[in-house]
Amino acid sequence: MNDLGRLEDLPQDYRDALTKLNLVPLWPNLRAVLPAMKPRPKTKPTCWKYETIKPLLLRAGELTPIEKAERRVLVLANPGHGLENMQASAAMYLGMQLLLPGEWAPSHRHTPNAIRMIVEGEGAWTTVDGEKLPMSRGDLVLTPTGLWHEHGHDGSEPVIWLDVLDLPLVYYMEASYHVDGGRQTVIPGSGNRAYARGALVPTPSFTRSSKPYPMLRYPWLDAKAALESLAADRPDLDAVQVTYANPETGGDAENILGYYALMLRPGQTLHLPVRSPAMVFHVIEGSATADIDGTRFAMTEADTCCAPGYCAVSLANGSRDNPAFLFIADESPLHRKLGVYEQRDSTTA
Ligand SMILES: [Fe+2]
Repeated sequence: MNDLGRLEDLPQDYRDALTKLNLVPLWPNLRAVLPAMKPRPKTKPTCWKYETIKPLLLRAGELTPIEKAERRVLVLANPGHGLENMQASAAMYLGMQLLLPGEWAPSHRHTPNAIRMIVEGEGAWTTVDGEKLPMSRGDLVLTPTGLWHEHGHDGSEPVIWLDVLDLPLVYYMEASYHVDGGRQTVIPGSGNRAYARGALVPTPSFTRSSKPYPMLRYPWLDAKAALESLAADRPDLDAVQVTYANPETGGDAENILGYYALMLRPGQTLHLPVRSPAMVFHVIEGSATADIDGTRFAMTEADTCCAPGYCAVSLANGSRDNPAFLFIADESPLHRKLGVYEQRDSTTA
């Protein structure tokens, strides 16, 4: 590969003339924006331990009333992107959010898509598009783009959940904004009951739902049961994994980020394929070791880690007795829509 000309090789008067006209020579920057064979991600393998986050989050509850925070969140920021940019990866934002008993996070809607993965506590709820969704450990709650959502808490202990948003991407697109609203009117019915039997979908008077997001809550009990059934049905299967899907279309639950649950059998080590999207792993039950391009993180319940795309990741369950259950978020839907999705043989990565 040829060495390309550097900026310093150009006479200063030429460089000044270009700058004055808002022009930039491509060749000194070409290799940076189009590196050979694979990207150079800013995203660094990073792990956030829940036991270190929780006390600081509870302290935020003492320091900042909900009215002064609106959403009381500590952002899990990847140092590779600069902490101030509040990114876990190029397209993913992660935040650990605290809601105290009696608090209300007022209704709003915004262009980025979000989900919540409930980490701890009972009694909180999220109302999305008029549907009141209880929040229990391991539940996945969608708040897709444009839908009104608010959070409340009728329980007696703090509730904490993990937020995953495509905020960095939508912000980069200069398409990120929010709208405030009042309290929502709760409407009866819940998608997670209506769609509880996978291949049987509600069809009143021969009509299927035209809602883009027909199911907004995926209870952990159902996801765990699906994984256990799959593991029992397919003892040959390495990756015991399910996708959180839109039950009407079979497509991804949201448009930009993908969500999955994974079961590691007792003692299992799982080598994931090398793929273009960045990934986030969050332990719901049990413990696991994540090896991300040679960086090893020992993870236990509620710990979260992030892996850049195009790197080798393996997950190991050290327990000989118990399975481990992980929640995974990734950028697959985005990469597929953009036509840049890749899976590589790990020997050529
Ligand atoms: Fe929100």
